[in-house]
Amino acid sequence: MAAERGPVMATCTAPVNIAVIKYWGKRDTDLILPINSSLSVTLHQDQLKTTTTAAASRDFTEDRLWLNGKEVDVGHPRVQACLREVRRLARKRRGGGEDAAALSLSYKIHIASENNFPTAAGLASSAAGYACLVSALARLYGLQEELSEVARRGSGSACRSMFGGFVQWQRGERPDGTDSLALQVAPETHWPELRVLVLVVSGEKKPVGSTAGMQTSVETSPLLKHRAEVVVPERLAQMMRHIRDRDFEGFGQLAMRDSNQFHATCLDTFPPIFYLTDVSRRIIALAHRYNAHHGHTKVAYSFDAGPNAVIFALADTVAEFVEVVRRSFPPATNGDQFVRGLPVGSAVLSQELVGAVVTEPVPGAVQYILHTQPGPGPQLVDDPSQHLLGADGLPRSRA
Ligand code: DP6
Repeated sequence: MAAERGPVMATCTAPVNIAVIKYWGKRDTDLILPINSSLSVTLHQDQLKTTTTAAASRDFTEDRLWLNGKEVDVGHPRVQACLREVRRLARKRRGGGEDAAALSLSYKIHIASENNFPTAAGLASSAAGYACLVSALARLYGLQEELSEVARRGSGSACRSMFGGFVQWQRGERPDGTDSLALQVAPETHWPELRVLVLVVSGEKKPVGSTAGMQTSVETSPLLKHRAEVVVPERLAQMMRHIRDRDFEGFGQLAMRDSNQFHATCLDTFPPIFYLTDVSRRIIALAHRYNAHHGHTKVAYSFDAGPNAVIFALADTVAEFVEVVRRSFPPATNGDQFVRGLPVGSAVLSQELVGAVVTEPVPGAVQYILHTQPGPGPQLVDDPSQHLLGADGLPRSRA
């Protein structure tokens, strides 16, 4: 075969996930080992995804990384940990010897990564980002094994984005982290009626990042210790049953309680951390009024380390609840862009519902709503025209 010309490339996409039993706190900050197991729902990549191209060439003189078209430092310790682990596994697979057909591990690599959603919207991008990085690198080096353990080294929650549907990150017991892995609990097809609404309330950056925040919580919050030791093991088993039975009442109740307890541990941290804003709290109150009006759990909220609300609902509730949100937070401008993602039907609200649920509207407090659903894990992009890097190994100019 003639000598290889141009870089060898692989492109993958990976999803965002939202935890319904939250991860908060590490027992090992270097290996990223959690103090408790967690459970999440993988969101569909049609609405939220990261795309990453990894390329290797004998002509590259250094490893390089571009995020959303901008070059960033490839020396970031977590990026380096992922790179090192993937290369180590590739080396192990080849049994130390050089396989002539395999890509040389001595080549430098170029990586380009992009989100199809605004990073500034405060939506968890590190989980999708590291899951995608590891998936693309694995493809490049021809690794077949399960790599949630490697994605975990980038960001804890990233290990859960290595699967679709409903995913558990089991805490593990071993000090080396080899049993701290993600496992699929049920595929994305398991609960076809389940829908997700992301209520984007703020584009501001978090006041305290998750990594620093959770470390302070581990050091100072007795509630977090109790949560990890006593509450989460029970809740995890319950949540698995609710998912298995597609029991929205149980699932929704527990998701809300677990989100609330996570934010309670933030308040119990010293100095305290506040991720929820007044608008977040209004959304919480709205969800409870809405459920009370209907006499059962129709919607459930969950908040990560930021003010945006993620709402779970069944498909037949979406149109009505979206209208309730529109009335409660009337769009300031671009009203036609208020609802994005999957189509949402129209709904007429009864006077009774409006009277009971829509109290004191706050114009402009919710920027937009993204309608999505559970989706699959990382995907390989076959079409070479979709590579984010050109034949010269540099980012393609974006349209
Ligand atoms: C509140 O995974 O972002 O979203 O492991 O330090 O990178 P690091 O933290 P990260 O924390 C996510 C915390 C959370 C809850 C969750 O996703 O389980």
